[in-house]
Amino acid sequence: MGTQRDPNRVIIFDTTLRDGEQSPGISLDQGEKVEIAEQLARLGVDVIEAGFPVASQGDFESVQAIARAVRGPVICGLSRTALADIDRCWEAIQDAEARRIHVFIATSEIHMQNKLRMTPDQVKTEAGRAVGHARQYTDDVEFSPEDASRSDFGFMCEVLQIAVDNGATTLNIPDTVGYGIPEEYAARLQAVRQAVTGDYVISTHCHDDLGLAVANSLAAVKAGARQVECTINGIGERAGNAAMEEVVMALRTRADYFDGVDTGIRAEELGRASRLVSRLTGYPVQYNKAVVGRNAFAHESGIHQHGVLSKRETYEIMDPAAVGAGESKIVLGKHSGRHAFADTMKKMGYELHGDALNQVFTRFKELADRKVQLTEEDLEALVAEEVGDTVRYRYQLVSCDSHGGSSSTPTCRIVLDHDGEKLEATATGDGMVEAACNAIRQLTGVDGQLTDYAVTSVTGGVDALADVALRFAVDGVSMPGRGLSTDVVEASARAFLNAINRIYRIKDSGAELADDKANRPGHLDGV
Ligand code: KIV
Ligand code: ZN
Repeated sequence: MGTQRDPNRVIIFDTTLRDGEQSPGISLDQGEKVEIAEQLARLGVDVIEAGFPVASQGDFESVQAIARAVRGPVICGLSRTALADIDRCWEAIQDAEARRIHVFIATSEIHMQNKLRMTPDQVKTEAGRAVGHARQYTDDVEFSPEDASRSDFGFMCEVLQIAVDNGATTLNIPDTVGYGIPEEYAARLQAVRQAVTGDYVISTHCHDDLGLAVANSLAAVKAGARQVECTINGIGERAGNAAMEEVVMALRTRADYFDGVDTGIRAEELGRASRLVSRLTGYPVQYNKAVVGRNAFAHESGIHQHGVLSKRETYEIMDPAAVGAGESKIVLGKHSGRHAFADTMKKMGYELHGDALNQVFTRFKELADRKVQLTEEDLEALVAEEVGDTVRYRYQLVSCDSHGGSSSTPTCRIVLDHDGEKLEATATGDGMVEAACNAIRQLTGVDGQLTDYAVTSVTGGVDALADVALRFAVDGVSMPGRGLSTDVVEASARAFLNAINRIYRIKDSGAELADDKANRPGHLDGV
């Protein structure tokens, strides 16, 4: 590889389709693997470890299909030291534009004794023979002493030297069980560079058992590693591998610390790669995952929102667009401030100022306290309820507490505010909605017939907002009412009170009661 010798260039070796596919529960078919490999090529990875061809016929065919279809990156196959494995690996990758064979054998005592059942001398012989055999096929051969971080250092270096002497061009130091600690792992890598002579690229391959895969990989780069083995979204055996998006963006964002060392990754493709891998593997990306999580550029607290709206860099060290994550997100929740709220409203097309803004913002805060996150649909419904009518109403709902069940009578206690005075009543009914309406009837002295009643949820989910639309007939006139809450009884009480307030508004104005068609539920006049 021409780029390999640039001292500031870190080779990105993607093993999503090999180590990543070894994650419990992941099984990709050939078409899916090719689709991911194509995205990896678009992303600009240098090497794709496409699979372990001897593992199964399906693996072999997938590696072969990728070797035939994908152009750009080197296509690599993994192989044990058995010569037949190496032959099979070569057969799978031979049609690629550029090919690599990755040979591995364990060098830790625990693996040699319990898994390989080989003596250290046998391991040395195997390693040398296998690398030499692979070199007959391609001049790009990688060697890994599996469980390197738990291997006896002197012995591991002897094996590595044998690998180089037999033609290995990349020496990978796998932290197979995620045992390494950054300083210690980096020191080991540096010591290998001093102890093993020859012309090779030193590589890092870290697992995340202690949550240190990315930290270890970065420490390794600082110590001279010029290849990082990683996966999209950090998928891989057990707790996974180092996440490519994190390694790439750490090197780029902290170029000052890493002395300008960089990869050839087109970072704007990271988001798409992450979503594709998540969709095809069925492995969700945690919300707060660095770089590609859905909250990685989302701001909820008022102080942060204000900062980001003034200058994005106040609370963001990366540009979301640069990693394919779109724009910074202002999430309206209970911690949001008036500034972000007004800004979101404006983006939705609502120019709210003064009292109208205060009124909607106050209700928004009340709802946000009960609902984790409010969507645009929630906000639209809220605006419709609050400023669909700009006249201040006679009664305001202060609280609505209902209880009931299969063995107790549905009861509701309502507290209203009437020009600063608190009015309170408790009533029963056939259901809790009726109990709430009865209490409101008592407090407002308005009697009539509840005609239409419909409840819809504004958005999905158990914490969705209930939007109640009803009609209340008084003296032969039907008045609409609308109410919104995360609680259906409260939404109903609000809708009922809304209809009563309209009646009083008309009565107070001295006009005759008449069907108020303009204010039918859903009509957003005044907005
Ligand atoms: O974790 C590991 O040791 C591996 C090797 C095959 C490189 O995945
Ligand atoms: Zn691994």
